[in-house]
Amino acid sequence: MTPPPPGCASLGAPRASVPSPLARSGLPLRLLLLLWTVAASQGHPRNGPRISAVWKGHAGQDHVDFGLAEPHTVLFHEPGSSSVWVGGRSKVYVFDFSKGRNASMRTVNIVSTKGSCRDKQDCKNYITLLEKQGEGLLVCGTNARRPSCWTLVNDTAELLGERRGYAPFSPDENSLVLFDGSEVYSTIRKQEYNGKIPRFRRIKGEIELYTSDTVMQNPQFIKATIVHQDQAYDDKIYYFFREDNPDKNPEAPLNVSRVAQLCRGDQGGESSLSVSKWNTFLKAMLVCSDATSNKNFNRLQDVFLLPDPNGQWRDTRVYGVFSNPWNYSAVCVYSLGDIDKVFRTSSLKGYHSDLPNPRPGKCLPDRQPIPTETFQVADSHPEVVQRVEPTGPLKTPLFHSKYHYQKVVVHRMHASNGETFHVLYLTTDKGTIHKVVESGEREHSLVFSILEIQPFHRPATIQAMSLDSDRRKLYVNSQWEVSQVPLDLCEVYSRGCHGCLMARDPYCGWNQDRCVSIYSSPKSEPVLQSINPAEPHKGCPNPKPEQAPLQKVSLAQNSRYYLSCPMESRHATYSWRHENSVEQSCEPGHQSPNCILFIENLTDLQYGHYYCEAQEGSYLHEAQHWQLLREDGAMTSHLLGRARALAASLWLGVLPTLTLGLLVH
Ligand SMILES: *[C@@H]1O[C@H](CO)[C@@H](O)[C@H](O)[C@H]1NC(C)=O
Ligand SMILES: *[C@@H]1O[C@H](CO)[C@@H](O)[C@H](O)[C@H]1NC(C)=O
Ligand SMILES: *[C@@H]1O[C@H](CO)[C@@H](O)[C@H](O)[C@H]1NC(C)=O
Ligand SMILES: *[C@@H]1O[C@H](CO)[C@@H](O)[C@H](O)[C@H]1NC(C)=O
Ligand SMILES: *[C@@H]1O[C@H](CO)[C@@H](O)[C@H](O)[C@H]1NC(C)=O
Repeated sequence: MTPPPPGCASLGAPRASVPSPLARSGLPLRLLLLLWTVAASQGHPRNGPRISAVWKGHAGQDHVDFGLAEPHTVLFHEPGSSSVWVGGRSKVYVFDFSKGRNASMRTVNIVSTKGSCRDKQDCKNYITLLEKQGEGLLVCGTNARRPSCWTLVNDTAELLGERRGYAPFSPDENSLVLFDGSEVYSTIRKQEYNGKIPRFRRIKGEIELYTSDTVMQNPQFIKATIVHQDQAYDDKIYYFFREDNPDKNPEAPLNVSRVAQLCRGDQGGESSLSVSKWNTFLKAMLVCSDATSNKNFNRLQDVFLLPDPNGQWRDTRVYGVFSNPWNYSAVCVYSLGDIDKVFRTSSLKGYHSDLPNPRPGKCLPDRQPIPTETFQVADSHPEVVQRVEPTGPLKTPLFHSKYHYQKVVVHRMHASNGETFHVLYLTTDKGTIHKVVESGEREHSLVFSILEIQPFHRPATIQAMSLDSDRRKLYVNSQWEVSQVPLDLCEVYSRGCHGCLMARDPYCGWNQDRCVSIYSSPKSEPVLQSINPAEPHKGCPNPKPEQAPLQKVSLAQNSRYYLSCPMESRHATYSWRHENSVEQSCEPGHQSPNCILFIENLTDLQYGHYYCEAQEGSYLHEAQHWQLLREDGAMTSHLLGRARALAASLWLGVLPTLTLGLLVH
């Protein structure tokens, strides 16, 4: 028998012992219930995660606290390593998450040298950059408004000196730094008081270059990457950003999302205007909209690049998380091949003459300079007409939902039968992570949101997330702590084999009476999985799910009472059945975590058996079973006496939830 999860057992409140706040408020209970049901049935039921879990981790092994609040952090982790570095205020924290041992933390103090700061806050050294460099790490920080770098080897920091462009003057600036071999690119301004217009620069390696001040309007940089193409001279830098929409029409969105391209081999131009500027800049709009429902998602939040397993750069998948003005989100997937094609073939917006030769944006071999005419055309018409659209025949988002997603990483994995899945980990503005599985080929692709994880001891915004495919962990940090979350989190699925398979989690399966990770069981013992949510799950040793244990309660006639059934699966419809009639039904998207049946005035006919049943596709199981007994004799009265106090407090506890549910709608 599977007992109900602790803390979720139902309890009732006999009328006599409970004051009736509802009666006092003058709103009839039935009306409230009706409103409640109507309100609860709205929303976007199955786009949300099926199961929600607070993840405790192994004591001592998976969470470490900074010991104080770190409002600005930067996280560095190298896949396969057990170390995680976090840069904070005048400090670098080094965490060790070695397997089978308790996690440990060391700190290296890197205080500001001397600076030109004004107040106390300002005089700190906010670490904003951590990057692998040889044996150690390159560490850069604001250093009291005198951006500087250090090398960190064996827990000892050595000052390298002032480094403009590697760290901003204050911690919350819009900064992006990209390393590629000996080259460094940055969006950080070099001068504190002039040069306020953000630029994308090459600050180390070949000749220093920057973008013209007219090619972007108030950009917010999101991500930059180098793409090695078939010919070295064709290597590109792509960067993703948002900018103000030049279209000031009140109907038009305030922001537009973009991808820009630059040739890595760009040497700048020959004329005085073009000499230290990028000569190969072009930008294109990234579209993420669903034409059928007329939903547009214009604000790019994050980008993750998933390389092709066969090393074809054109097939690199570019996952973009977007939001709309209501903070709903969509994920759109692009390919680098499509982005490259748009830049190679599109005409330029607002330019109606013949394009010069070589065309703007073309990379030239042998470090040839771009002719001035080509530069001038590109510089005055930096946007291409064609827009970058999502892959797939319909060019629509992979999915959209009412959650406000902020960051994304994607893991390509193989289930026990060898089938490939892309698993998305999305952070929400509530400090949780959603695990969303994308399966199948594009045309028949299925997207299924399987789990919401609360990764911290203390709920807080997720500041950074790093995926380690080798160790199969996610590393996340808030302002308080760092957590190591396993990708194969299988212990959160309850209800035996059926609960395990219905989770549709490609990392988990049923083996020897347990829901286990596919990585934990030997190859000779394949685990049972049933990942496709479009098909009924099958193969459990016992084809019928177990029945819920019977729970009994004795009640006086005319009592007021309620039964509560925890809605573990947010994709299922929960119903309270009594005799042959359904007394209460809670659809997916229900606001409360429980499906509650209120009995206002217990009559003769209402005694008996109550079943809470969950229906999800073709899967039906019994979640709760209660028997309401007639209260008679002394035997039950002392039991009930004890239950009453608790019951009363629970009854009062449910009201705020109910009211809240009504208010938010
Ligand atoms: C690991 O941490 C847990 C919880 O903090 C603690 O109970 C346990 O003693 C620790 N083990 C070792 C080996 O330090
Ligand atoms: C760091 O420590 C390792 C091993 O303890 C040692 O081999 C190496 O020389 C040290 N490096 C520096 C720069 O001190
Ligand atoms: C986008 O629009 C908001 C107003 O909603 C504005 O504050 C912001 O500066 C705009 N630009 C970017 C790049 O986000
Ligand atoms: C959307 O989210 C942003 C930041 O998370 C917040 O400032 C803003 O108020 C939200 N907008 C709406 C309409 O909820
Ligand atoms: C419950 O029903 C009985 C009989 O129908 C009635 O006398 C009583 O007033 C009712 N109690 C409440 C609280 O409505």
